[in-house]
Amino acid sequence: MAKDNKAKAKAKISKEGLKSAVSIFKYMRPYLVYFILGMLSLALGSLVFMIFPGAAGEMANTAAGVKSKFIDLSLQQYGYVFLIILIAQGLLSYIRTIFFAIVSEKGMADLRKDLYNKIISQSNTFFEERRVGELTSRVTADVEQLQSAFSITLAEFFRQIIMLISGIAILAYLTPKLSLIMLGTFPFIVILAMIFGRYIRKLSRKRQDKLADSNIIVEETLQSFSVVKSFANEWYESIRYANSIDDIVKISISFARIRGIFFIFIITFLFGGIFFILWRGAILVQAGEMEVGHLFSFIMYTGILGGAIASMGNLYVSLAGAVGATERIQKILTEDTEVNIIDSKDKSELNLRGDIEFDNVHFSYPTRKDVEVLKGINLKVKAGSKVALVGQSGSGKSTIVQLLMKFYLLDQGSISIDSKNIIDYNITALRQNIGIVPQEVLLFGGTIRENILYGKPNASEEELKLAAEQSNCWEFIQEFPEGFETIVGERGIKLSGGQRQRVAIARAILKDPKILILDEATSSLDAESEKLVQDALNKLMQGRTSIIIAHRLATIRDVDQIYVLENGKIIEKGTHIELSALENGAYSSLAKLQFEIT
Ligand SMILES: Nc1ncnc2c1ncn2[C@@H]1O[C@H](COP(=O)(O)OP(=O)(O)OP(=O)(O)O)[C@@H](O)[C@H]1O
Ligand SMILES: [Mg+2]
Repeated sequence: MAKDNKAKAKAKISKEGLKSAVSIFKYMRPYLVYFILGMLSLALGSLVFMIFPGAAGEMANTAAGVKSKFIDLSLQQYGYVFLIILIAQGLLSYIRTIFFAIVSEKGMADLRKDLYNKIISQSNTFFEERRVGELTSRVTADVEQLQSAFSITLAEFFRQIIMLISGIAILAYLTPKLSLIMLGTFPFIVILAMIFGRYIRKLSRKRQDKLADSNIIVEETLQSFSVVKSFANEWYESIRYANSIDDIVKISISFARIRGIFFIFIITFLFGGIFFILWRGAILVQAGEMEVGHLFSFIMYTGILGGAIASMGNLYVSLAGAVGATERIQKILTEDTEVNIIDSKDKSELNLRGDIEFDNVHFSYPTRKDVEVLKGINLKVKAGSKVALVGQSGSGKSTIVQLLMKFYLLDQGSISIDSKNIIDYNITALRQNIGIVPQEVLLFGGTIRENILYGKPNASEEELKLAAEQSNCWEFIQEFPEGFETIVGERGIKLSGGQRQRVAIARAILKDPKILILDEATSSLDAESEKLVQDALNKLMQGRTSIIIAHRLATIRDVDQIYVLENGKIIEKGTHIELSALENGAYSSLAKLQFEIT
């Protein structure tokens, strides 16, 4: 039963949907004056339009020599009246279009900005739980739908309602008998049309869903096209996409068929109804119960009313779609930012010394709660010292670093910096003190300059150059004809792995953080570049608290403390010399293996 209700609520405009639609109206509020003026000109325009058929009927009466009950105009004067109506109509339409455009464009621009700000400041978990395509369509397609709802659909809906009400009122007054006959036939057609409409909506929704699915395929494969290529799986993706497109075609055609039948239905019944009423009207005129001009007006009004009712269904569907979009948007707008994290409101700049302590830290990722990744980590890094984390892949090294940056909330235990729990630090202020050269360097699609400056957007040209030199970027940047302005391609694919890594180091140098994290920062460098980068890193590490994650033990020989991780636990700690001396130790056997080979 509850499920049934839920399914129905989707086809209709639900209560929650209405609530969120009302709250989205807040984006229109700054432009309310335009909205009201637009609505007024809309109402006025519709009413002026509704005078037309009546006036035309009176004109026909005048032509037939029947004296009008309302106005006494010559045929020439009628010509002027129509001209005025036309001009007024045109002007009002123009004003309305402009005003609604102002409201919807500006209002939706504000909404887009808010929505984007909200999404961009969400926690890691938020992004892990959602697909990029889905989020993108919130900002693009859903807002677009709202935009057209506010600029076109809503206005059109009101216009039709105004025409419907005024049309019925005029008809009831002008031609009461014939109107009664119409009332006996039209509701029947309307009800049938509504039933039909509901079915059409269902198909339309199904088509939309399928379309979204196929868009996800395009987006994901294009985003990771190099994976597709390297596996030579183009054929597989082609088939996957083709299948999904074929599905859409199937649904679309049955959708079209139903729509076609709907048109047959509308044409038959609507025109059938009109002809029937026309016939009854002719009889009334013959009997002298009605003037021919009024029959003329009646036909025109009926046509308008029919059109209004017919378009109501479509408009309703669009509005329901827009309300659905507001609901989805509202869900994101009301989402707490960095939801899994306790944050301090104190945003003032932090000047950390860089003493780090992990105390019995237990952690499992929110999206995989049942797997404990860290099982009681204890770790101490004195300000300005260097600590290395080693251990097998998947043992939790990167996780430790992510927790330090407050990407996730701990299950148990605490992390403190300068003897203060990081829970009590403001996220932004804290992260400003931490620089990271990550395991997988992701660059933005712009220039090398933009990418390096990401570490400090307001850095001077000298600082930029210095950072490029210290990170050993300068040598390859120099070789590019465009230098700093070289476009790195989407996510940096036009640079080699090592070059990307050096850009990341340059970023970190510019950022000049108190705490430095190097997650396998030298992993994709050849021996020579590695030495250069290592020198750069050594310089960079001076006077900073550094956490170095490394598989290759040669790079961490002279750190102050090495922690060996296994399965989320620290199994050994000590200096290189201490750990190497341990008989059968994990580190010493690893070291033996690595140094023997090299
Ligand atoms: N975002 C995530 N959501 C769920 N589980 C994750 C997530 N990131 C990592 N994990 C899991 O946590 C465990 C530890 O991962 P982590 O990235 O910390 O390993 P690592 O020691 O850095 O390994 P590597 O040396 O390969 O980089 C792994 O089992 C991994 O599958
Ligand atoms: Mg890692």
